[in-house]
Amino acid sequence: MKVCVLGLGYIGLPTALLFAAHGSDVVGVDVKRSVVESLNTGVIPFHEPGMDDLFRQAQDRFTAATEPEHADAFLIAVPTPLDPATKVSDLTFVKRAAAMITPYLQEYTLVVLESTVPPGTSERIVIPLFEKSGVLAGDFFYAHCPERALPGRTLHEMVNNSRVIGGYDQASTEHATDLYRTFVKGEIYRTNMKTAEFVKLMENTYRDVNIALANELAQLADECGVNIWEAIEIANRHPRVSLLNPGPGVGGHCIAIDPWFLTETSTRCRMISTAREINDSMPNYVLQIVRGMVQGIRDPVIAVFGVAYKGNVDDTRESPAIKFIQLAENDGYTVQCYDPHVKRFPYPLQPLDEAVANSDCIVVLADHACFREIDPAAVRMRTKNVVDTRRILDTQRWIDEGFTVSIPGAAAHPLPLGVGADLREIGLSHDRSVGSFAPLPSAPLLSKHERGDIP
Ligand SMILES: NC(=O)c1ccc[n+]([C@@H]2O[C@H](COP(=O)([O-])OP(=O)(O)OC[C@H]3O[C@@H](n4cnc5c(N)ncnc54)[C@H](O)[C@@H]3O)[C@@H](O)[C@H]2O)c1
Repeated sequence: MKVCVLGLGYIGLPTALLFAAHGSDVVGVDVKRSVVESLNTGVIPFHEPGMDDLFRQAQDRFTAATEPEHADAFLIAVPTPLDPATKVSDLTFVKRAAAMITPYLQEYTLVVLESTVPPGTSERIVIPLFEKSGVLAGDFFYAHCPERALPGRTLHEMVNNSRVIGGYDQASTEHATDLYRTFVKGEIYRTNMKTAEFVKLMENTYRDVNIALANELAQLADECGVNIWEAIEIANRHPRVSLLNPGPGVGGHCIAIDPWFLTETSTRCRMISTAREINDSMPNYVLQIVRGMVQGIRDPVIAVFGVAYKGNVDDTRESPAIKFIQLAENDGYTVQCYDPHVKRFPYPLQPLDEAVANSDCIVVLADHACFREIDPAAVRMRTKNVVDTRRILDTQRWIDEGFTVSIPGAAAHPLPLGVGADLREIGLSHDRSVGSFAPLPSAPLLSKHERGDIP
């Protein structure tokens, strides 16, 4: 079987390599010459766990090129961005990829669209483009097989997750299923094209709406003087409750975008777009907390930790860090960024020491595991403030080193002194200067100052 994969990014490249490692001859096509050259000299253009090993296994059956070739099956894994101004999907890349494949289309050729698209795109846009070749759908096989893998676990999930395949007809679905079966161990659910398109969007919308709920609850908790993290932990003991964690907003190429694909032609949707608005407004909320912490400081300098859209990945697409930085700069703050995972970002990235130098507030936006290893005693800044939007730092350790730590959802309304004693009875404490609550393993959560450690 010869497979031609168009688009060698986060999805297309691992998919192409998995096919090659499982016995298909694969031509990977990308319009970016730099990507093709990099791969043909053995260099993977981005980091993803396990890719180096997979590349070695696939090497004999994989080549990269800037143009497609004749193949038994074509896969399209090109970007489907959102127009930021109109919130309408941009299908330019899909149309162009389809046009590139059309000259090679024959009877019995299989085409699979992996890119995420609005419901009906296969039927209205993609198939009519292919039919311009003179070969009709049904004579060539067509299916939509949306990708559901999570960056950071892409390879594991591509192999083990269940998949949904929606074919133009029964034969198309069967052919696409046979192709994916070469490496997919998860269940393969078969349906029609539009349902497959809808399912993918619905899954990410589900996540987005639930994150928005957690983010709204965090803000309510701040208004009420409740620690959202503790409240969620307790609520989730209920057998039918599964609240997600709040954070600085939602990024990445899927969750922040796909809900718009679902609603773009609808006149009815309310909840989905409100959820988008809530998540998009979280950088504003984080900035509001930062403002409180640097109040009274002249020319504040903010050190952003983590510009990737989530922990342990190098992907900054739609990252809430971008909006946070823009807003902070518009507030007149100087922003210095540190992210050991990210190589390319619109703002300069600095080593840890330089990013914190002369700064007044660290703002943790991505939950990179390496941030937990930072020794607060070695962090030299002008004013020792931290806003930990992901609640990943060892709060007590930072407080012990003299930092004031704020955690959104547990920060806005410090309780009066004395209330902490009541909370301690249920294993919690509150420190007024800290502005955060946290479960107490043994000792109450207090600043050095309150414990009398500081003269
Ligand atoms: N990244 C994810 O985690 C993820 C998860 C699920 C679904 N998806 C979906 O998968 C699709 C691909 O996403 P991605 O993250 O791999 O994008 P990406 O930007 O990482 O890679 C896409 C690649 O396609 C190339 N390209 C553009 N037009 C082309 C063409 N006509 N022919 C050949 N190559 C072309 C680009 O140069 C780029 O290298 C999108 O629809 C996305 O929504 C992504």
